[in-house]
Amino acid sequence: MRFALPLLSALLSLCEGDVGDFSPCLSFFYRSRPPTGIVGTPICQRYRNRYHFATLYSRERRSPWFSGYVFTPPQGKRPRGAWKYEPQLANSRADGNMALFPIPPAKLDQNVVESQAVQKDYTNSTYTRGHLNPNQHHNDTIARRATFTLTNIVPQKAQSNEGPWKKLEDRVTKIMQEYCLGESYIVTGVIPYEKDRWLKDEGRVAIPEYLWSAYCCQNHSLDLPNSLNSIFPTFGAIGRNDPNSSQEIVPVNPHQKKEEQGYDVRLMPLPVLEGYLMKRYRKSISIFEQQCSGV
Ligand SMILES: *[C@@H]1O[C@H](CO)[C@@H](O)[C@H](O)[C@H]1NC(C)=O
Ligand SMILES: *[C@@H]1O[C@H](CO)[C@@H](O)[C@H](O)[C@H]1NC(C)=O
Ligand SMILES: *[C@@H]1O[C@H](CO)[C@@H](O)[C@H](O)[C@H]1NC(C)=O
Ligand SMILES: *[C@@H]1O[C@H](CO)[C@@H](O)[C@H](O)[C@H]1NC(C)=O
Repeated sequence: MRFALPLLSALLSLCEGDVGDFSPCLSFFYRSRPPTGIVGTPICQRYRNRYHFATLYSRERRSPWFSGYVFTPPQGKRPRGAWKYEPQLANSRADGNMALFPIPPAKLDQNVVESQAVQKDYTNSTYTRGHLNPNQHHNDTIARRATFTLTNIVPQKAQSNEGPWKKLEDRVTKIMQEYCLGESYIVTGVIPYEKDRWLKDEGRVAIPEYLWSAYCCQNHSLDLPNSLNSIFPTFGAIGRNDPNSSQEIVPVNPHQKKEEQGYDVRLMPLPVLEGYLMKRYRKSISIFEQQCSGV
């Protein structure tokens, strides 16, 4: 009996989940500190028994607040996206790896449907599945496949997803590849509407009014072109997801290509981005410790 207790607690810690606690995946955040000020359910995104990134999830909104990851230079082709879900949101004792949606006629457990977004939520909607952590910011196939979990996805208009937001992801890839010498920590999240809007008005999956993103790269090239001087060590951006939004946060460029009009992305320094988040979330929000100042 003397050994039973330690054995039991060892077993329990083995079964301990990857949902509800960022401690197994703090390495995806600058100085191991997740953004502060936003409340949600932490998910350590595990796929094939390895952690790939971290997500703060909103159970009420069945969509993520943000995902945090470390950029690695992309290699290889975009993988075929087989969509996955997080079993532990439905059952805390479920396997900690993300799981593939079953192929019909196999049915998904109703507890999974209640606890998170599922394929059906996006079917027949006017939104695409927008990655917060994009597959192209990773260098191996498994890490890329791991981004195809709906807990990393928000409803995003195709014009943004395939237009200005895609260009932002490409731009960040180029800048990091050329000028970041060490780790580049990226966090990408959402700004909700003042009053929530839902996919297909079903009250299940909340639609973001804007997407935001910021990176922190302390160890960067000192040989920067003048135009890039102000974008290290940290910079951010906010992108429109609704052409009807006001122009206070992100102005609309009327000379933009017609299909991209109203989906503009505005680059901005980190404190300006945090200011907009603070206004909408009505809370002080810090994305990187000490604003990635290195002190
Ligand atoms: C999508 O629309 C088609 C055609 O109207 C309909 O048959 C199908 O049931 C819809 N699927 C969902 C998940 O709403
Ligand atoms: C991907 O990047 C990581 C971190 O820099 C590195 O350890 C790993 O070897 C890279 N993998 C490939 C396939 O290049
Ligand atoms: C920055 O990165 C370069 C290249 O990887 C490395 O040689 C150097 O030691 C790093 N500097 C710091 C301060 O980490
Ligand atoms: C913008 O407003 C128009 C007119 O009210 C409406 O038809 C359209 O669906 C709205 N767009 C979005 C993305 O909400």
